[in-house]
Amino acid sequence: MEGTPKQPKNCSSLVEELVEQARKTALGGQVADYIPALAEVNPDYVGLAVIELDGSVHTAGDADIPFSIQSISKVFGLAMAMQRMDDILWERVRMEPSGQAFNSIVQLEWEHGIPRNPFINAGAIVVSDVLVSHYSASKSAFVQYVRHLASNSAIHADHRVWESEKEHGNRNAALAYLMKSFGNIESEVPEVLDHYFFQCSVAMSCVDLARSLGFLANRGVQPGTGERICDARSAHRINALLSTSGMYDQSGEFAFTVGLPAKSGVGGGIVAVVPDYGVIAAWSPPLNRFGNPSRAVEMITQFAQRLGLSVY
Ligand code: DON
Repeated sequence: MEGTPKQPKNCSSLVEELVEQARKTALGGQVADYIPALAEVNPDYVGLAVIELDGSVHTAGDADIPFSIQSISKVFGLAMAMQRMDDILWERVRMEPSGQAFNSIVQLEWEHGIPRNPFINAGAIVVSDVLVSHYSASKSAFVQYVRHLASNSAIHADHRVWESEKEHGNRNAALAYLMKSFGNIESEVPEVLDHYFFQCSVAMSCVDLARSLGFLANRGVQPGTGERICDARSAHRINALLSTSGMYDQSGEFAFTVGLPAKSGVGGGIVAVVPDYGVIAAWSPPLNRFGNPSRAVEMITQFAQRLGLSVY
């Protein structure tokens, strides 16, 4: 890449144009339906927020409406765990793409209970175990952390989603007990799952997400406040993992067409990091066959391609 991307003069109008376009596009897919609280979400929501490192905010559509962040929570959990634990963490969770669905169980058996990366469910459950072991109240530490990063004290977990995740969490429980049988979960499984389901159920808007992850675009320093959230090496590592595994088994295609570190969630959100530029967050609930939100993928693809933001 030659230098840093130029600040586009027409960024706000592009954000509006992409939301308009997304609203008109019938890309197919269905909202997540594994729990009633997500199955009932209106599929017509479309939001887009871009926050640049200089503080400029560009939003359109439903960018201020909070939604279930689901797997995007894995980024925050990982950043917290990396602060609390040294490189031993990487003996418990690896840094390779999985090539499997986000909740797949088969690979975990072959690989002796060591998940391929922190962004598949098994990896995020190991990270949740680290948080449960290192914090006396990991759930409240988690929500305080995201409130602080997003500068929004109103962020909270959606208790209906949290309860529902617990009720329908058999596959995640299977992953956790399998890892426990290999000695890769230290705390009691119900407590670890409770934390994992809690963090998935936190609700944030596109604006919250774009603001909270600014430090990943700025070598670990939060742009708005100048606060160091993590060291530059940790920011690099999180971005590398997002690039290879953040979009599950669509990560290769996303790197090929977009070229940005990104994380999706089944609540319909995607957050994409543009180093030295800012953060893009998009939301639209219907999901494609990989469990990634189709319209949000399209809005981020268009934004990145039109402004030449690829890191490659
Ligand atoms: O644990 C689960 O399977 C759900 N809470 C969904 C996690 C998720 O968002 C996967 N991402 N696309």
